[in-house]
Amino acid sequence: MVRHFLKDDDITPKEQAAILELASEVKASPYKFRPFEGPQTVALIFDKTSTRTRVSFTVGVADLGGNPMVIDTGVSQMGGKESVADTARVLERQVAAIVWRTYAQAGLDEMAANSSVPVINSLSDDYHPCQILADLLTIKEHKGALAGLSIAYVGDAANNMANSYLIGCAMAGMHVRIGAPAAYAPAAHIVRRAEEIAAETGGSVTVYGNPEEAVVGADVVTTDTWISMGQEAEKQQRIDAFAGYTIGSALMAHAKKDAIFLHCLPAYRGYEVSAEVIDGPQSVIWDEAENRLHAQKALMIWLAKHAH
Ligand code: CP
Repeated sequence: MVRHFLKDDDITPKEQAAILELASEVKASPYKFRPFEGPQTVALIFDKTSTRTRVSFTVGVADLGGNPMVIDTGVSQMGGKESVADTARVLERQVAAIVWRTYAQAGLDEMAANSSVPVINSLSDDYHPCQILADLLTIKEHKGALAGLSIAYVGDAANNMANSYLIGCAMAGMHVRIGAPAAYAPAAHIVRRAEEIAAETGGSVTVYGNPEEAVVGADVVTTDTWISMGQEAEKQQRIDAFAGYTIGSALMAHAKKDAIFLHCLPAYRGYEVSAEVIDGPQSVIWDEAENRLHAQKALMIWLAKHAH
């Protein structure tokens, strides 16, 4: 049966570990794997803007012997004119996989329900699971392992990145520590799901109402923009709500001395993170951005293997 990757726990913790292992192999031998030889085409659909996702999937599909076809939905029939289900029925006859950056998770569910080829979520309003695979690969490279490490996510914890950190890092057996204002705390069902997973993997989940407590003793410190795509009208309200949540040197000093800093990018220096931290010695953001490519290639190889 075809497998899709619409949210972090569409794979098991064991499968996540196997994909990360494969990602390291892919990184070491970038042109060894050719699941899309032919070339077969992979549809890369974008309802939202992107730099890293567009580049890493385009390069990744080409590296795997395939033909990347970018579709900007503004110039296609998708959306207003044609249903997601009908789009899936057209695409599945011609492409080897569908990668989609969109708004509602329900759209991805509908695409997957009508597609006989793997569908990959390349960011939705609810999850950014490909980013988490890249982040886990980066942490593994810098720390040697994942299980037992502590990751502190500070800022807007009611967004897609926080959801994926909670679930994806719990799957890796990590201790996930969230620091967020009460109005931007993670949804209860996401915390419950992450706790369920952590109980199986040896990880844990703790939500704090301030940034310092979350960061104390952390191996990894991370954040995301305070103003996600589509929230531009709330900009000032959000800047006010997150006062005190900027990750600066004083906050980083609460983490372990050898803690690393991650950011999925794009970053807004002076808001969620200071320039001193993101451009400083603890920051590994460029490794993280590069690892989108290797992690996604591993994911596509793995899904192609499980597609029949
Ligand atoms: N991190 C990330 O998804 O970057 P883009 O929005 O540039 O794709």
